[in-house]
Amino acid sequence: MQATCEAHPNIALVKYWGVRDPERALPFNSSLSVTLDRFRTRTTVRFDPSLKADRVVLNGTEAGPGPRDGVVRFLDRVRSTARVNAFADVDSDNNFPTATGLASSASGFAALAGAASAAAGLALSDRELSRLARFGSGSAARSVFGGFVEWRAGTRADGSDCYAVPLYPARHWPSLVDLVVLVEGAPVKAMRSSEAMQWTVRSSPQYARRQAELPARLAKIRRAIGARDPDRLFPLVMEECDSFREVCETTVPSLDYLTPTSRAVLAGVRELNRKAGRPVAAYTHDAGAHVHVFTLDRHLGRVRSRLAGIPGVERTLTVRPGPDLLFAPPRPGPGGRGRARSSGSR
Ligand code: PMV
Repeated sequence: MQATCEAHPNIALVKYWGVRDPERALPFNSSLSVTLDRFRTRTTVRFDPSLKADRVVLNGTEAGPGPRDGVVRFLDRVRSTARVNAFADVDSDNNFPTATGLASSASGFAALAGAASAAAGLALSDRELSRLARFGSGSAARSVFGGFVEWRAGTRADGSDCYAVPLYPARHWPSLVDLVVLVEGAPVKAMRSSEAMQWTVRSSPQYARRQAELPARLAKIRRAIGARDPDRLFPLVMEECDSFREVCETTVPSLDYLTPTSRAVLAGVRELNRKAGRPVAAYTHDAGAHVHVFTLDRHLGRVRSRLAGIPGVERTLTVRPGPDLLFAPPRPGPGGRGRARSSGSR
């Protein structure tokens, strides 16, 4: 009745923003992301019939009501599927600062999906884990897989065709780097993303146009990754980020996630590309002030020094495509490698 799981956060190159069915956590559009190697969440879940309530410890401290409720709701879903009545002890820690907007909900709920389902005795395939994880946080559906991942929105009302699939493994593009630019004074989110995105759906006059553009943009981004082509990929990644930011900013009331420093980073990347006469880097950000700057190993020196000179940049972390969800100790099964993936499990 106990299991431990590790998961890595991801950064979306095509953003998920808006659900068509909140009950089933079904998104309007498919999204695409890169799982990140350097950051990870490790979570242990133990169901124990002697417990009188769920106990949730995040980074060594008892969780406050908001985060705790999200975990308890998720455990309830696992309990009802597995027909387990016992309360659980959940112990989760991140090797990166949780409140900095570095997508801890994606790695957090992917690790919780793995650990809670295994502790409850459910032997879920990767696809089933992805379907389960999205109920904690949409982006968690993608963190079940390493490398480059697409979360397919699907079209069925019951959500059975809504899950993430691995596109390319982390080793597909070894020279691709993500410089995570941490900006000073990044505000703590005023509203959860899951709520903020529904304000956008209801009020942004640009939302319908964005939705119409997304399938073609996603297909182009998928192909550019497949071809390892930065000349095609980098402009598309920035176009997508600008489109996401536009619908946030035209939401009523407006959602403005960036600080002046974040905006200076975007301007710095545009200037680098202009001076180079070709795309040497691409920016993207999610619902937070930190910026991810993708580049290639051979441009790393000049991109890093351009960014380090921007006032308000706290530091930049060099991150690369990262691994699949990992069970520790390994799940029994073919090979027993500890990977969520085992032959035929998709
Ligand atoms: O998974 P959530 O509910 O935290 O929403 C994620 C939203 C974005 O990070 C902005 C986009 C994405 O696809 O990750």
